[in-house]
Amino acid sequence: MNSKKVLNRQDGRAKVTGAAKYTADYDLPGLVYGVLVGSTIAKGKIETLDVKAAHRCAGVIAIASHLNPLDIPAYDSEQAAQAGAAKGNPLHILANNEILFYDQPIALVIADTFERALFASKQIKATYQKQAHQTSLEANIDKSKLPSAERFNDYLRGEDDGYKKADVIVEEEYYHPIDVHNPMELANTIAHWTANDRVSVYTKTQGVEDTQQVLSELFKIPVENVTVDAEYVGGAFGMGLRRWPYEMVTVAAAKKIGRPLKVVLHREQMFTNVGYRPETKQKIAIGATKEGKLVGITHEATGNISPYYEFTEAVLMMTQFLYACPNVATRYRLVPLNISNPIWMRGPGEATGSLALECAMDELAYKLKMDPIELRLLNYAEKDPVENVPWTSKFLKECYQMGAAKIGWENRHQEAGTQKEGDWLIGYGVGTGTFGSGRAPASVQAILKPEGQLLLKCSVNDMGPGTATMMASIACQQLGIDQGEITVKIGNTDLPSGPTQGGSVVTTSVGAAVYDVCQEVKKKLMELASPSGKILAQDDVDFVAGGIVLKSDGNTTVPYARLMEKEQLSQIDITIDSKGTKINGSKYSYSVHFVKLRVHASTGQTKIDHVVSCADGGKIISPKTAESQMIGGAVGGIGMALMEDLVVDHRFGKPITNNLADYHVPVNADIQQMDALFVDKKDPVSNALGTKGIGEIALIGVAPAVANAIFNATGKRIRELPITPEKLL
Ligand code: MOS
Repeated sequence: MNSKKVLNRQDGRAKVTGAAKYTADYDLPGLVYGVLVGSTIAKGKIETLDVKAAHRCAGVIAIASHLNPLDIPAYDSEQAAQAGAAKGNPLHILANNEILFYDQPIALVIADTFERALFASKQIKATYQKQAHQTSLEANIDKSKLPSAERFNDYLRGEDDGYKKADVIVEEEYYHPIDVHNPMELANTIAHWTANDRVSVYTKTQGVEDTQQVLSELFKIPVENVTVDAEYVGGAFGMGLRRWPYEMVTVAAAKKIGRPLKVVLHREQMFTNVGYRPETKQKIAIGATKEGKLVGITHEATGNISPYYEFTEAVLMMTQFLYACPNVATRYRLVPLNISNPIWMRGPGEATGSLALECAMDELAYKLKMDPIELRLLNYAEKDPVENVPWTSKFLKECYQMGAAKIGWENRHQEAGTQKEGDWLIGYGVGTGTFGSGRAPASVQAILKPEGQLLLKCSVNDMGPGTATMMASIACQQLGIDQGEITVKIGNTDLPSGPTQGGSVVTTSVGAAVYDVCQEVKKKLMELASPSGKILAQDDVDFVAGGIVLKSDGNTTVPYARLMEKEQLSQIDITIDSKGTKINGSKYSYSVHFVKLRVHASTGQTKIDHVVSCADGGKIISPKTAESQMIGGAVGGIGMALMEDLVVDHRFGKPITNNLADYHVPVNADIQQMDALFVDKKDPVSNALGTKGIGEIALIGVAPAVANAIFNATGKRIRELPITPEKLL
């Protein structure tokens, strides 16, 4: 009945049978195809652009470039800035001859088939006036600047550089290169303009409404003239949180030619045009008493941005509040490089910051000859040290305990490099993660049919974590309806308003609205079931598939059809608008990741044996998809730690690991046992369900856990990701 049923993935069947329609799968009457040509220099000006040969190719309809600008409008608002154009130094795509990064689009070739557009695109010839580009963070670190957003000002609690007074000090630098999202599904957009300045767009986005807003502002048309559809998204990991130049070009070009236009990036462009986790260098100093009590932490981070947009993320926030420490200073800086724009990537800045913080804590534990978990528990923050208020809920201790038991932490040797199995060195490592748990406004419509089917609608879309399954799970629990009777419609701006899928807010926001709308449906059913003169209360009834059980009436089940008949209702149709709440400084989700691995003594190869990820994500709604979400995040963290590296050849400013053969990510053979454990306790304030988010904490803390396990195995402290075999020899 209302017991917790574990649902299978709501859209699983559609996805495995191919019935699911992803945005690029759409085919519209008269559809034509565009292929982007990119610059082969990283900075300078286009001197000549020869498009004559391309124009002569069969099937070519139009070629857009700065020679015939598309008039992509209005790069002047905050929303437009999201599209890749900050005030002051905007990226005017296909508008002038200026080149700011390698593979910047310089032309769009449109033809009647994709193949013809691709062939013609190869005939375009450009010459350039090269200027000296800057793509190396290291070489430009002295040009770093303070971000303009106040939130990223230098932070100080207590004494500046207070760590210096401590008995035991760890002071080190950590580095990770550019990591790229690289979802399986390529970035793609179809734009179709119709009469009266209306446009419908299928595009790979994490927020259909956000995309609608941006397009409305950029093209100066009313919001209601823009329809955005992204019912299915084949992974995104954050790259769908911004509108990219290729999308603007597609929408503008479709308008110009008056035909529906499809542009799908090729894999190389996924490395150069649609965001990445910025390269970041960090300096951290932690000081503690001989007993292990933290005295001070100073943490500095410098990340790269593009020349045209100031991207910021919360690299240092976690350091400010994760541990009880009287003296904390953080300093965040940015360096513009001739590389396209970064964007949040899974766990975003917190994942970056956790590398330095959680590795340095590990280094401190070894210096103190202490167990790393013991050190963390000794400095556990019982309340928020930044806001000086209690946490809404924090079950991080439980995460340490659950995970230590599951991974077999008692088998870990405190002395590094002392546990061997044949040629393999065995090690255990731990890393902590935390991320704010927010709630955004969300509207959900529920339509209940007399025959028992329930339809739930919300514009929120799903890049893969299982939003529809979460929504169906809540309805099953609340109304007793079987999953087979539930249809979930998401991912289109015509549906009731929902949030962007990002920042771990969807379950808490949309889940709350589903819960609320179910309460209203229940109320309506109880009202219909009430005998005259008596209003039934929740305790008088049970909700089961297809009807309502009257406890006072010998547990008879009254079917929905009979109830609706009373008022001649063809269905019950209710929409709820649930309000968001601001992220409160003391409302966080937590994770602890445990890694057991082995390093080959003579080849330096690392093999992951076992990962245990423990989460305090509040109450878990959909156990199957939550588990999958946690495991997926941990796999991403393993990639970050051991493999991922967008290598830029600074001589040319060119990303060279720009394909999936050279840019390594973990495959099944790299992943052995993975476990996801949940504390599964309610947060008392988030919503009626008690949920918090898990999308980001699934990755935050994984890379340091791997690095720490490698140290435990080998005694080698590698502070530069990725930790490849040659660094271990
Ligand atoms: Mo996430 S990095 O908010 O998609």
